This record gives sequence, structure tokens and C-alpha cells, in this order.
Amino acid sequence: MQERTSAPPGSEAMPLNAYTRLPLRFLTCGSVDNGKSTLIGRLLYEKKLVHHDHLAALERDSQKHGTTGAVDFALLLDGLEVEREQGITVDVAYRYFATERRAFIVADAPGHEQYTRNMATGASTADLAVLLVDARMGLLTQTRRHAIIASMLGLRHVVLTVNKMDLVAFDQEVFTRIAADFVSFAGDLGFRTIQAIPVSARDGDNVSAPSPRMAWYCGPTLLSYLEEIDVEDECSLGPFRMPVQLVLRPDPDSRGFAGTVASGRARVGDELAVLPSGQVSRLKQIFVAGGECDTAAAGDAVMLTLTDEIDIGRGDMLVASQHRPLVADQFAAHLVWMSSEGLLPGRSYLMKINHGTVAATVTTLKHRIDVNTLGRSVAKTLSLNDVGVCNLSLARPVAFDAYSDNRETGSFILIDRYTNETLAAGMIDFALRRAANIRPQDIAVTTADRSRLMHHRPLVLWFTGLSGAGKSTVANLVEAGLHSRGIHTTLLDGDNVRLGLNKDLGFTQADRVENIRRVGEVAKLMADAGLVVMCSFISPFRAERQTLRELIGAEAFIEIFVDAPLEACIARDPKGLYRRALAGEIRNFTGVDQPYEAPDAPELRLQAGDTRPQVLADQVISYVMRRVLI
Ligand code: ADX
Repeated sequence: MQERTSAPPGSEAMPLNAYTRLPLRFLTCGSVDNGKSTLIGRLLYEKKLVHHDHLAALERDSQKHGTTGAVDFALLLDGLEVEREQGITVDVAYRYFATERRAFIVADAPGHEQYTRNMATGASTADLAVLLVDARMGLLTQTRRHAIIASMLGLRHVVLTVNKMDLVAFDQEVFTRIAADFVSFAGDLGFRTIQAIPVSARDGDNVSAPSPRMAWYCGPTLLSYLEEIDVEDECSLGPFRMPVQLVLRPDPDSRGFAGTVASGRARVGDELAVLPSGQVSRLKQIFVAGGECDTAAAGDAVMLTLTDEIDIGRGDMLVASQHRPLVADQFAAHLVWMSSEGLLPGRSYLMKINHGTVAATVTTLKHRIDVNTLGRSVAKTLSLNDVGVCNLSLARPVAFDAYSDNRETGSFILIDRYTNETLAAGMIDFALRRAANIRPQDIAVTTADRSRLMHHRPLVLWFTGLSGAGKSTVANLVEAGLHSRGIHTTLLDGDNVRLGLNKDLGFTQADRVENIRRVGEVAKLMADAGLVVMCSFISPFRAERQTLRELIGAEAFIEIFVDAPLEACIARDPKGLYRRALAGEIRNFTGVDQPYEAPDAPELRLQAGDTRPQVLADQVISYVMRRVLI
């Protein structure tokens, strides 16, 4: 995609009528052995194809909306920049070629195990998907998955290429059966056109020339079909949207907002709204690569200035003021999960949406979609390549459209806060208004008032460590010590909370995330009440402990790592649980078949392997007494 931003003009060599229609962006997908490369190679090789400067195709592409100038405005970045920063386009190869009748941009997503990631990336800009199947194998799970993802990503046209027909003796029956299977499967996926074509990519049958060996087939060849198909460009029709990617200062007195127009068209003088704030201004100037112009349209990389000084940052959206997108902090969405680390509802992820970044959690995983039957199944997590439907909650409201209305402004990715890995691609279904009528209520007696009465500050002392490390023992001694010094305390302990509030939770990773989330909320309420709250939980995951720190506030959150070696815990085994876990009688046991992620920088680290608990407790007490008194 890099080339898009640096396309110089240079279409002289191009046959004129190649541009009487828009370039077709299509995606090819299939498993490793389906012959995808052969097919693309064929397409490029056959005589009719004019090998062509791919940049020229792009230049045409950029002119489809009738703007002046080319796209290589140095200030402006490609719309996929965020994804590229995330490293998810690396495996998608884009090729450009043209015939006498049309220019093509092909996204080729390799079929290795991370395929959905590549495929989703390629599909996000494509109009049509070419799905390849091997005539000997018929539809595979992967074919169905690709069809679902293509449909979720808004592709409305699909070509099923039944390849290797030579290996089934050009048998019409075989083709008809596979085509019928596909039509009955994909019938519900919302495609506008489905075309099946029998080919032999190796020999060239039905690729660009009709095959005399399959005289029974009367339909188009692959190439003629791709040349002819009409994929109207809906983006250019929608209301104006431009997510702000960069704020620039072209001169000391003005600010310019750079980005790629996601949809619609705006003219100098138009009234624009800035979302999510909702402020309104007028479009003063539009700059493109060659200079200034009057209109900006979908696909254009531009810099805009406004008539008013408004505070606008990266991640805000400039929109037609009469046709605004949604603004919400909760929505329902489809997810394609792309990581070998499963989805954990309740975990705090980062969402990148319209160039903004916001903390987000999946509040409910509604269901997983079975890619073979399209049926829904109940799921607690999504694993690599799974597709699911969920509700998400964000740390602050953002502006977006439903994906069905706008593929650009309705999509997002989720990334891991620590590794920066891309975890999922998401498509927004609709906003949830659930929390819209709920506002924080002012409370007359503040936490500070309560603290004054108690003569000490509230704190949350979070004890984390392996089962058997001594967390509860030490926390108990700490509470007794603080209590005797006049500190108002309370103690939340894993086993106790799991007998009450959290008795519905087990020990899967997802349940542990939810366990800690709830306890964190309770601890916060108690700290708001003015107490020093001791919490004793294995809390094995770094991400949740970090979320606790953000929820409670770094000034009041004290992470205490009760650090005893696993061997010591196994030797102690106070509840006999290690013995049973090691014998395979208990599943998901921390340290045995589930990880414990030790804290990197806890406020206190207690050497709990060989030190007496009271000595450890005294360390905590003296630390707390220094922090707690007003
Ligand atoms: S946490 O991981 O979600 O923080 P929590 O501290 O609430 O765990 O509960 C841990 C306690 O549950 C342990 O002290 C132990 O007594 C008990 N337990 C039962 N099964 C398991 C298990 N599979 N893994 C860890 N602890 C378990």
C-alpha cells in the first residue's frame, strides 16, 4: 500500500479505454495448495494483460472522485497507516495490473496459519473476493471462513474459482456440486453477486480464454468477469467524513487537519461538525498534493482548515454537520480474533478507531459464529481465527458509523496494551444507548471528608502471588497490626469472595479476569468509604493488576508481591491443592497448568520463601504507616 501515497503522474503508456471504468480492487484467498499464486501468475502472464506501471493505476484511482492533482501530498498518510504501524499489512501483497478494459488492484493474502489477519487486512479495501477452491477437495472450512470474513468486511461480490478442473477430468458434475454447495452456504451472507467459474490456473482454462475442454460451461472467463463487473462505489455517496490523522501548523496563525476523506464530499464554505465534541465551523481551505482546491471527496488525502479556532486532535472526526455519525462509548460489534492469545472479556485492551486510541473492554461475548454452519454458539472466549459478536465498552465516547453504512469509519482494531500485538479486527454493528441516561451523581460527603474523620487516607493494599505463597496469612497479620494502630481496615480474601459475590466464577483465565474486575470495583467502593482495603488474590495477570492501578488511582494502589518460589508453595501445599493439580485432578491451577505473571515493579516485594510471616507483615505495616497518616 505504500505506493499509494507516492504515486507520481505517469499514465501516458496506458490504453485509454482502460479507464472508462473504475479500477477493481479485489482480494484473492485460498489455502496454500489451492493454486492461488498460479492463478495470479496466469492472470498477469496471459497475452491480453498489459503489464503496466502500477502507479499509473493508482493515479487513476485517485482521480475517480474528480479531484485535481495526484495523491502524493507529502503531508498525508495512507489510511492504513495505523494498521501498518501495527504490522498487520506486512503479509498482504498488493499487485497492480491493467488490461485494455480495466485496471486492477489485487490484494493477495497468503494462506498460512495467520490467514484471517492477512485476509481481513486485504479485504478491508477490496470490492470483490476471489475465493479459490481445489476441485478435488470442494469447500473447506477455510473457504467458508473466508466467505464469512469477506461478507463481514463489507465485500458484496464474490467469485468462487473452482481450480484444478484438469485433475477431475473437467467433470461438470464436480463443478456443479461445489458451486451449489457454495451458493447454499453463502446465500445468507448478503453478497450481491456470487459467480462460480471452473478453471485450470495451470493450463489457463477459463482464466482469460474460454476453455474448449469445458464446453459445457457457458459463463464468463475469470478475467472477462472481473473486467465487466460493476461494483458501485458507495463510499463516495455517503455523507462527508474525515477522521483527523494529523494536526499541522501551515503558518503560525492557523491549524490544518490532515487525513484521508473516508466518504462523501465537502466544498469550501460547507458547515462541518467536529466530533465527538459536536462543535460546528465552516470549511475554509482544502489543500491537496498540487495546491489548493474547492472540493475534497472520498479517497482524497487532504489538509483542511476551518474558519474558527476549535480544539481538534488526532482521532476527532470532521463530518457533514447535517449528517452526523454516532457518538457513544458502548457498541455491539463483530470481531475477527487474530491472536493465539484468546479474548478475555473484562480485560482492558486498546482500541484504535479512526486514528484515535481508547481503552476498551469486551463486556459481553454474545456468541461465536460457527464458520461451517453459520450457527451461533455460546462462547466464553474467542481463539485464533474465531469470529464472534460482542458488546464493547470504551473509556470515553468516540464518533463512528455502523460498518454497514461506512466501512472506513465503522471499523477498528483491538491491540494488546503490553505487547502492542494486534488482537482483532472489529466491525461496528450499532451503538448501545444503555449508559446514555446515566450520569455520575455528586455525593455531598467526599472521600476526603471521610478521611478527615478517620485521621488517615484510604489505600488499597493488593497482595498478589501464587497459591500457598502466604498472601492471606500476611494480609491477616497486616490488618491486625494496622487495626491496633487505629487504622480503619477491611480484608477481601480470594476464597471468601468466591464463596459469595463471585460464587458463579471458576478458574478459567476469563473467570479470573472477571473475579479481579469485580473485586477491584468493590475495593474502590470501600476505599471511597475511607478504608484501608487489603485484597488477597492470586491475580495472576499483569494486565488486570494494571487495570486495578488505573481504576483505584496510582496514589492509593499498593501492589505487594508475595514472592515465594513455586517449589516452596508446592512443598507447603496448605490445602493439598498442588498435589491434586499435579495429579491432574484439578485443572487451570496457577503455576501448574496456568501462568502466573510476576509483577515488574510492585511497591513492595516480600521474600516469602523463607521469611517468617510476621517479619513480612511488619515490612508492610511500616510502609503503610508512612503513607497513610494525614
Ligand atoms: S484468582 O486467580 O482469581 O485471583 P483467587 O485468589 O480468587 O484466584 O482464588 C484462589 C484460591 O482458590 C486459591 O487460594 C485456592 O484455595 C483456590 N483454588 C481452587 N482451585 C484453584 C485453581 N484452579 N487455581 C488456583 N486456585 C484455586
